[in-house]
Amino acid sequence: MSESFPLNYDSEFIHSPSFDLSKIIRPNILSLEPYRCARDDYSEGVLLDANENAYGPSLTTEHDGNLNRYPDPYQIQVKERIMKMRGLKSTKNLFLGVGSDEVIDLLIRIACVPAHDKILITPPTYGMYSVCAQINDVQVVKSFLNVKDGAYQLDLDNLFDTLKSNPETKIVFLCSPGNPTGTCLSHKSIRAVLDSEFKGLVVVDEAYVDFVDREEGSVATWVDQYPNLVVMQTLSKSFGLAGIRVGIAVGHADVIQILNNTKAPYNIGTPSALLAAEALSDDGLAKMFDFRKRLIAQRGVLIEKLPQIDGTGCVLGGNDSNFVLIEILDAKSKKPSNDRALKVYSMMAKELGVVVRFRGMEYGCDGCLRITVGTEEENATVLDILQKALAAN
Ligand SMILES: Cc1ncc(COP(=O)(O)O)c(C=O)c1O
Repeated sequence: MSESFPLNYDSEFIHSPSFDLSKIIRPNILSLEPYRCARDDYSEGVLLDANENAYGPSLTTEHDGNLNRYPDPYQIQVKERIMKMRGLKSTKNLFLGVGSDEVIDLLIRIACVPAHDKILITPPTYGMYSVCAQINDVQVVKSFLNVKDGAYQLDLDNLFDTLKSNPETKIVFLCSPGNPTGTCLSHKSIRAVLDSEFKGLVVVDEAYVDFVDREEGSVATWVDQYPNLVVMQTLSKSFGLAGIRVGIAVGHADVIQILNNTKAPYNIGTPSALLAAEALSDDGLAKMFDFRKRLIAQRGVLIEKLPQIDGTGCVLGGNDSNFVLIEILDAKSKKPSNDRALKVYSMMAKELGVVVRFRGMEYGCDGCLRITVGTEEENATVLDILQKALAAN
Protein backbone atom coordinates (compact mmCIF):
# COMPACT_ATOMS: atom_id res chain seq x y z
CA MET A 1 0.00 0.00 0.00
CA SER A 2 2.77 2.46 0.73
CA GLU A 3 6.21 3.14 -0.51
CA SER A 4 8.96 2.82 2.02
CA PHE A 5 11.69 5.21 3.05
CA PRO A 6 14.35 6.71 2.81
CA LEU A 7 13.14 10.21 3.44
CA ASN A 8 14.06 12.39 0.53
CA TYR A 9 13.66 16.04 1.33
CA ASP A 10 16.23 18.73 1.87
CA SER A 11 18.33 20.57 -0.68
CA GLU A 12 15.24 21.90 -2.46
CA PHE A 13 14.24 23.81 0.66
CA ILE A 14 15.17 27.41 1.06
CA HIS A 15 13.92 27.38 4.64
CA SER A 16 14.53 25.10 7.63
CA PRO A 17 17.35 23.23 5.85
CA SER A 18 18.42 21.58 9.09
CA PHE A 19 14.99 20.08 9.77
CA ASP A 20 15.31 16.33 10.12
CA LEU A 21 12.01 14.48 9.95
CA SER A 22 13.60 11.21 10.99
CA LYS A 23 14.39 12.80 14.37
CA ILE A 24 10.79 13.91 14.84
CA ILE A 25 8.98 10.72 13.94
CA ARG A 26 8.77 7.95 16.55
CA PRO A 27 11.20 5.12 15.77
CA ASN A 28 8.42 2.51 15.74
CA ILE A 29 6.55 4.56 13.13
CA LEU A 30 9.67 5.09 11.03
CA SER A 31 10.32 1.37 10.95
CA LEU A 32 6.66 0.48 10.37
CA GLU A 33 5.94 -2.08 7.69
CA PRO A 34 2.58 -0.68 6.54
CA TYR A 35 -0.43 -2.90 5.94
CA ARG A 36 -0.61 -4.11 2.37
CA CYS A 37 -3.54 -5.60 0.55
CA ALA A 38 -3.56 -7.71 -2.61
CA ARG A 39 -5.25 -4.85 -4.44
CA ASP A 40 -2.16 -2.71 -4.08
CA ASP A 41 -0.76 -4.98 -6.77
CA TYR A 42 -3.86 -6.17 -8.67
CA SER A 43 -7.13 -4.27 -8.70
CA GLU A 44 -8.98 -5.70 -11.70
CA GLY A 45 -10.55 -9.03 -12.58
CA VAL A 46 -12.56 -11.39 -10.39
CA LEU A 47 -11.91 -9.87 -7.00
CA LEU A 48 -11.81 -12.60 -4.40
CA ASP A 49 -8.96 -11.19 -2.34
CA ALA A 50 -10.55 -9.03 0.33
CA ASN A 51 -13.39 -11.10 1.81
CA GLU A 52 -16.01 -8.65 0.53
CA ASN A 53 -19.59 -9.68 -0.23
CA ALA A 54 -19.71 -10.65 -3.91
CA TYR A 55 -23.50 -10.32 -4.12
CA GLY A 56 -23.41 -6.63 -3.27
CA PRO A 57 -24.59 -4.26 -0.56
CA SER A 58 -27.72 -5.05 1.43
CA LEU A 59 -29.29 -1.72 0.55
CA THR A 60 -32.79 -1.21 -0.76
CA THR A 61 -31.97 1.56 -3.22
CA GLU A 62 -29.25 2.01 -5.83
CA HIS A 63 -26.06 3.82 -4.83
CA ASP A 64 -22.97 4.80 -6.77
CA GLY A 65 -19.54 3.53 -5.94
CA ASN A 66 -19.40 -0.31 -5.72
CA LEU A 67 -20.17 -0.16 -2.04
CA ASN A 68 -19.52 -3.86 -1.51
CA ARG A 69 -15.86 -3.12 -2.27
CA TYR A 70 -13.35 -1.53 0.06
CA PRO A 71 -12.66 2.08 -0.90
CA ASP A 72 -9.57 3.43 -2.64
CA PRO A 73 -7.03 3.90 0.19
CA TYR A 74 -5.66 7.11 -1.36
CA GLN A 75 -8.64 8.82 -3.02
CA ILE A 76 -6.57 10.32 -5.80
CA GLN A 77 -9.47 12.04 -7.56
CA VAL A 78 -10.39 13.97 -4.43
CA LYS A 79 -6.75 14.89 -3.88
CA GLU A 80 -6.32 16.05 -7.47
CA ARG A 81 -9.22 18.43 -7.05
CA ILE A 82 -7.94 19.75 -3.73
CA MET A 83 -4.50 20.17 -5.29
CA LYS A 84 -5.91 22.23 -8.13
CA MET A 85 -8.11 24.33 -5.91
CA ARG A 86 -5.36 25.12 -3.40
CA GLY A 87 -2.61 25.69 -5.96
CA LEU A 88 -0.49 22.77 -4.73
CA LYS A 89 2.08 20.95 -6.82
CA SER A 90 1.35 17.28 -6.18
CA THR A 91 -1.18 14.92 -4.65
CA LYS A 92 1.82 13.59 -2.73
CA ASN A 93 1.49 16.71 -0.59
CA LEU A 94 -2.02 15.69 0.47
CA PHE A 95 -3.42 13.37 3.10
CA LEU A 96 -7.11 12.78 3.77
CA GLY A 97 -8.38 12.00 7.24
CA VAL A 98 -11.71 11.28 8.89
CA GLY A 99 -12.14 14.97 9.56
CA SER A 100 -9.17 17.05 10.59
CA ASP A 101 -9.75 15.56 14.02
CA GLU A 102 -8.25 12.32 12.71
CA VAL A 103 -5.31 14.28 11.31
CA ILE A 104 -4.64 15.86 14.74
CA ASP A 105 -4.64 12.44 16.38
CA LEU A 106 -2.40 10.91 13.72
CA LEU A 107 0.10 13.76 13.84
CA ILE A 108 0.42 13.30 17.58
CA ARG A 109 0.72 9.54 17.19
CA ILE A 110 3.44 9.65 14.53
CA ALA A 111 5.59 12.19 16.38
CA CYS A 112 5.06 11.97 20.13
CA VAL A 113 6.36 9.16 22.31
CA PRO A 114 3.69 8.62 25.00
CA ALA A 115 4.63 9.70 28.52
CA HIS A 116 7.69 11.49 27.19
CA ASP A 117 7.07 13.95 24.36
CA LYS A 118 4.96 17.09 24.40
CA ILE A 119 2.90 19.32 22.15
CA LEU A 120 2.59 23.08 22.43
CA ILE A 121 -0.75 24.84 22.01
CA THR A 122 -1.59 28.54 22.08
CA PRO A 123 -4.79 29.11 24.09
CA PRO A 124 -7.46 30.19 23.54
CA THR A 125 -7.57 27.48 20.91
CA TYR A 126 -9.38 24.44 19.56
CA GLY A 127 -9.93 21.83 22.25
CA MET A 128 -9.10 18.68 20.30
CA TYR A 129 -5.33 19.22 20.35
CA SER A 130 -5.34 18.70 24.12
CA VAL A 131 -7.90 15.90 24.02
CA CYS A 132 -5.89 13.95 21.44
CA ALA A 133 -2.70 14.61 23.38
CA GLN A 134 -4.24 13.27 26.58
CA ILE A 135 -5.60 10.19 24.82
CA ASN A 136 -2.08 9.51 23.60
CA ASP A 137 -0.53 10.24 27.01
CA VAL A 138 1.28 13.25 25.61
CA GLN A 139 1.80 16.33 27.76
CA VAL A 140 0.48 19.70 26.63
CA VAL A 141 2.46 22.88 27.18
CA LYS A 142 0.83 26.24 26.66
CA SER A 143 1.94 29.56 25.32
CA PHE A 144 -1.01 31.89 25.64
CA LEU A 145 -1.93 34.24 22.83
CA ASN A 146 -1.58 37.92 23.38
CA VAL A 147 -5.27 38.59 24.04
CA LYS A 148 -5.15 42.30 24.82
CA ASP A 149 -8.13 44.03 23.20
CA GLY A 150 -8.98 40.81 21.36
CA ALA A 151 -5.68 40.80 19.43
CA TYR A 152 -5.34 37.00 19.66
CA GLN A 153 -1.84 36.91 18.22
CA LEU A 154 1.18 34.80 19.11
CA ASP A 155 3.38 36.00 21.93
CA LEU A 156 6.55 34.91 20.18
CA ASP A 157 8.96 35.61 23.04
CA ASN A 158 6.87 33.53 25.38
CA LEU A 159 6.39 30.80 22.78
CA PHE A 160 10.13 30.44 22.17
CA ASP A 161 10.87 30.52 25.92
CA THR A 162 8.26 27.80 26.47
CA LEU A 163 9.80 25.69 23.71
CA LYS A 164 13.24 26.19 25.16
CA SER A 165 12.17 24.99 28.58
CA ASN A 166 10.29 22.04 27.07
CA PRO A 167 12.75 20.45 24.64
CA GLU A 168 10.56 17.33 24.41
CA THR A 169 8.04 19.35 22.37
CA LYS A 170 7.53 17.68 19.00
CA ILE A 171 4.59 19.65 17.59
CA VAL A 172 3.41 23.25 17.81
CA PHE A 173 -0.29 23.56 16.99
CA LEU A 174 -1.27 26.96 15.62
CA CYS A 175 -4.87 27.69 14.68
CA SER A 176 -5.40 30.34 12.01
CA PRO A 177 -8.05 31.60 11.86
CA GLY A 178 -8.37 30.55 15.46
CA ASN A 179 -11.23 28.87 17.22
CA PRO A 180 -12.71 30.51 19.28
CA THR A 181 -10.79 33.68 18.41
CA GLY A 182 -11.89 33.89 14.77
CA THR A 183 -8.58 35.59 14.12
CA CYS A 184 -5.82 34.92 11.60
CA LEU A 185 -2.34 34.75 13.04
CA SER A 186 -0.05 37.12 11.19
CA HIS A 187 1.89 35.31 8.49
CA LYS A 188 5.01 36.96 9.78
CA SER A 189 4.57 35.30 13.16
CA ILE A 190 3.89 31.88 11.59
CA ARG A 191 7.06 32.27 9.54
CA ALA A 192 8.96 33.21 12.68
CA VAL A 193 7.99 29.87 14.27
CA LEU A 194 8.82 27.94 11.09
CA ASP A 195 12.19 29.66 10.78
CA SER A 196 13.04 29.33 14.47
CA GLU A 197 15.37 26.88 16.17
CA PHE A 198 12.40 24.64 17.00
CA LYS A 199 13.15 21.27 15.43
CA GLY A 200 9.64 19.80 15.44
CA LEU A 201 6.55 20.04 13.25
CA VAL A 202 4.60 23.27 13.01
CA VAL A 203 0.95 22.49 12.36
CA VAL A 204 -1.28 25.30 11.14
CA ASP A 205 -4.96 24.45 11.46
CA GLU A 206 -6.83 26.31 8.72
CA ALA A 207 -10.29 24.83 9.27
CA TYR A 208 -11.85 28.27 8.71
CA VAL A 209 -9.47 29.65 6.09
CA ASP A 210 -12.08 30.06 3.37
CA PHE A 211 -13.88 32.64 5.48
CA VAL A 212 -10.87 34.94 5.49
CA ASP A 213 -11.86 37.96 3.49
CA ARG A 214 -8.49 39.64 2.91
CA GLU A 215 -5.03 39.13 1.48
CA GLU A 216 -3.37 36.95 4.14
CA GLY A 217 -5.13 33.66 3.49
CA SER A 218 -3.79 30.12 3.47
CA VAL A 219 -0.18 29.14 4.10
CA ALA A 220 -0.70 25.73 2.45
CA THR A 221 1.56 26.51 -0.51
CA TRP A 222 4.43 27.15 1.93
CA VAL A 223 4.89 23.38 2.24
CA ASP A 224 7.11 23.66 -0.84
CA GLN A 225 9.52 25.74 1.19
CA TYR A 226 9.09 24.36 4.69
CA PRO A 227 9.54 20.63 5.35
CA ASN A 228 8.52 21.28 8.98
CA LEU A 229 5.06 22.66 8.08
CA VAL A 230 1.79 20.73 8.05
CA VAL A 231 -1.39 22.62 7.20
CA MET A 232 -4.77 21.17 8.13
CA GLN A 233 -7.96 22.01 6.30
CA THR A 234 -11.41 20.44 6.22
CA LEU A 235 -14.56 20.06 4.15
CA SER A 236 -16.64 20.52 7.32
CA LYS A 237 -16.87 24.30 7.27
CA SER A 238 -16.84 26.28 4.00
CA PHE A 239 -17.91 23.22 1.99
CA GLY A 240 -20.79 22.50 4.36
CA LEU A 241 -19.90 18.81 4.59
CA ALA A 242 -19.35 18.20 8.30
CA GLY A 243 -21.42 15.02 7.93
CA ILE A 244 -19.05 13.23 5.56
CA ARG A 245 -15.95 13.62 7.75
CA VAL A 246 -13.21 14.61 5.36
CA GLY A 247 -10.22 16.50 6.69
CA ILE A 248 -7.02 17.37 4.89
CA ALA A 249 -3.34 17.59 5.73
CA VAL A 250 -1.00 19.41 3.39
CA GLY A 251 2.69 18.80 3.91
CA HIS A 252 5.93 17.62 2.46
CA ALA A 253 5.59 14.25 0.67
CA ASP A 254 7.62 12.51 3.38
CA VAL A 255 5.41 13.48 6.28
CA ILE A 256 2.34 12.74 4.14
CA GLN A 257 3.73 9.29 3.40
CA ILE A 258 4.18 8.63 7.09
CA LEU A 259 0.58 9.66 7.74
CA ASN A 260 -0.55 7.29 4.98
CA ASN A 261 1.51 4.45 6.41
CA THR A 262 -0.01 4.97 9.85
CA LYS A 263 -3.70 5.53 9.11
CA ALA A 264 -6.30 2.77 9.04
CA PRO A 265 -6.04 1.43 5.46
CA TYR A 266 -9.50 2.49 4.26
CA ASN A 267 -10.23 5.53 6.41
CA ILE A 268 -12.26 7.49 3.84
CA GLY A 269 -15.44 5.65 2.86
CA THR A 270 -16.58 5.60 -0.76
CA PRO A 271 -19.76 7.70 -0.23
CA SER A 272 -17.68 10.38 1.52
CA ALA A 273 -15.12 10.37 -1.28
CA LEU A 274 -17.80 10.65 -3.97
CA LEU A 275 -19.45 13.56 -2.20
CA ALA A 276 -16.09 15.24 -1.59
CA ALA A 277 -15.20 14.95 -5.28
CA GLU A 278 -18.56 16.46 -6.22
CA ALA A 279 -18.07 19.37 -3.82
CA LEU A 280 -14.63 19.98 -5.32
CA SER A 281 -15.86 19.92 -8.92
CA ASP A 282 -16.21 23.25 -10.74
CA ASP A 283 -19.95 23.37 -9.98
CA GLY A 284 -19.39 22.39 -6.36
CA LEU A 285 -16.76 25.08 -5.93
CA ALA A 286 -19.08 27.68 -7.45
CA LYS A 287 -21.68 26.72 -4.86
CA MET A 288 -19.14 26.87 -2.04
CA PHE A 289 -18.03 30.34 -3.13
CA ASP A 290 -21.63 31.49 -3.26
CA PHE A 291 -22.38 30.20 0.26
CA ARG A 292 -19.11 31.66 1.47
CA LYS A 293 -20.07 35.08 0.12
CA ARG A 294 -23.45 34.88 1.79
CA LEU A 295 -21.99 33.75 5.10
CA ILE A 296 -19.44 36.55 5.04
CA ALA A 297 -22.23 39.06 4.38
CA GLN A 298 -24.26 37.57 7.23
CA ARG A 299 -21.21 37.70 9.48
CA GLY A 300 -21.16 41.42 8.77
CA VAL A 301 -24.77 41.69 9.91
CA LEU A 302 -23.98 39.98 13.23
CA ILE A 303 -20.86 42.09 13.75
CA GLU A 304 -22.92 45.23 13.24
CA LYS A 305 -26.01 44.27 15.20
CA LEU A 306 -24.74 42.23 18.16
CA PRO A 307 -23.04 45.17 19.91
CA GLN A 308 -26.23 47.22 19.55
CA ILE A 309 -28.12 44.87 21.89
CA ASP A 310 -28.36 46.14 25.44
CA GLY A 311 -26.09 43.99 27.62
CA THR A 312 -23.53 43.03 25.00
CA GLY A 313 -20.01 44.42 24.83
CA CYS A 314 -17.54 44.18 21.97
CA VAL A 315 -17.26 41.70 19.18
CA LEU A 316 -13.78 40.34 19.85
CA GLY A 317 -11.11 39.21 17.42
CA GLY A 318 -10.58 39.53 13.70
CA ASN A 319 -13.83 37.91 12.52
CA ASP A 320 -12.06 35.80 9.92
CA SER A 321 -14.27 32.72 10.49
CA ASN A 322 -17.91 31.72 10.25
CA PHE A 323 -18.61 32.71 13.83
CA VAL A 324 -18.54 35.79 15.98
CA LEU A 325 -17.29 36.12 19.54
CA ILE A 326 -19.41 38.56 21.54
CA GLU A 327 -18.95 39.74 25.11
CA ILE A 328 -21.86 39.65 27.55
CA LEU A 329 -21.60 42.36 30.18
CA ASP A 330 -22.61 42.47 33.80
CA ALA A 331 -25.70 44.68 34.07
CA LYS A 332 -24.18 46.85 36.79
CA SER A 333 -20.42 46.93 36.31
CA LYS A 334 -20.65 46.80 32.48
CA LYS A 335 -17.67 44.43 32.55
CA PRO A 336 -17.65 41.06 30.73
CA SER A 337 -19.43 38.56 32.95
CA ASN A 338 -19.23 34.78 32.74
CA ASP A 339 -22.06 34.53 35.22
CA ARG A 340 -24.48 36.44 33.04
CA ALA A 341 -23.16 34.90 29.82
CA LEU A 342 -23.80 31.42 31.20
CA LYS A 343 -27.32 32.33 32.30
CA VAL A 344 -28.07 33.85 28.91
CA TYR A 345 -26.57 30.86 27.10
CA SER A 346 -28.64 28.38 29.16
CA MET A 347 -31.86 30.30 28.75
CA MET A 348 -31.35 30.65 25.01
CA ALA A 349 -30.83 26.90 24.65
CA LYS A 350 -33.32 25.56 27.19
CA GLU A 351 -36.21 27.97 26.89
CA LEU A 352 -35.80 29.85 23.66
CA GLY A 353 -34.55 27.13 21.31
CA VAL A 354 -31.32 28.75 20.10
CA VAL A 355 -28.03 27.02 20.82
CA VAL A 356 -24.83 29.05 20.82
CA ARG A 357 -21.57 28.27 22.63
CA PHE A 358 -20.41 29.66 25.96
CA ARG A 359 -16.67 30.30 25.69
CA GLY A 360 -16.16 32.42 28.80
CA MET A 361 -13.84 29.90 30.44
CA GLU A 362 -11.32 30.20 27.61
CA TYR A 363 -8.30 32.41 28.25
CA GLY A 364 -8.96 35.96 27.00
CA CYS A 365 -12.63 35.27 26.28
CA ASP A 366 -14.25 36.53 29.50
CA GLY A 367 -18.02 36.63 29.26
CA CYS A 368 -17.98 35.50 25.64
CA LEU A 369 -20.54 33.65 23.61
CA ARG A 370 -19.46 32.21 20.29
CA ILE A 371 -22.22 32.48 17.73
CA THR A 372 -21.98 30.61 14.43
CA VAL A 373 -23.12 32.66 11.46
CA GLY A 374 -26.41 31.16 10.28
CA THR A 375 -28.78 31.94 7.46
CA GLU A 376 -30.37 35.38 7.29
CA GLU A 377 -33.41 34.02 9.09
CA GLU A 378 -31.40 32.23 11.77
CA ASN A 379 -29.35 35.35 12.43
CA ALA A 380 -32.48 37.46 12.84
CA THR A 381 -33.69 34.84 15.32
CA VAL A 382 -30.47 34.75 17.30
CA LEU A 383 -30.40 38.55 17.57
CA ASP A 384 -33.98 38.59 18.78
CA ILE A 385 -33.54 35.71 21.24
CA LEU A 386 -30.30 37.09 22.63
CA GLN A 387 -32.02 40.38 23.29
CA LYS A 388 -34.86 38.57 25.11
CA ALA A 389 -32.44 36.43 27.16
CA LEU A 390 -30.42 39.51 28.15
CA ALA A 391 -33.55 41.38 29.15
CA ALA A 392 -34.53 38.46 31.42
CA ASN A 393 -31.12 38.08 33.06
C1 LIG B 1 -10.06 24.79 14.50
C2 LIG B 1 -10.72 23.51 14.17
N1 LIG B 1 -9.98 22.52 13.69
C3 LIG B 1 -10.52 21.34 13.37
C4 LIG B 1 -11.87 21.11 13.56
C5 LIG B 1 -12.40 19.76 13.25
O1 LIG B 1 -12.80 19.68 11.95
P1 LIG B 1 -13.25 18.34 11.28
O2 LIG B 1 -14.73 18.40 11.17
O3 LIG B 1 -12.56 18.35 9.96
O4 LIG B 1 -12.80 17.21 12.14
C6 LIG B 1 -12.68 22.12 14.06
C7 LIG B 1 -14.11 21.87 14.28
O5 LIG B 1 -14.85 22.63 14.82
C8 LIG B 1 -12.09 23.35 14.39
O6 LIG B 1 -12.80 24.34 14.90
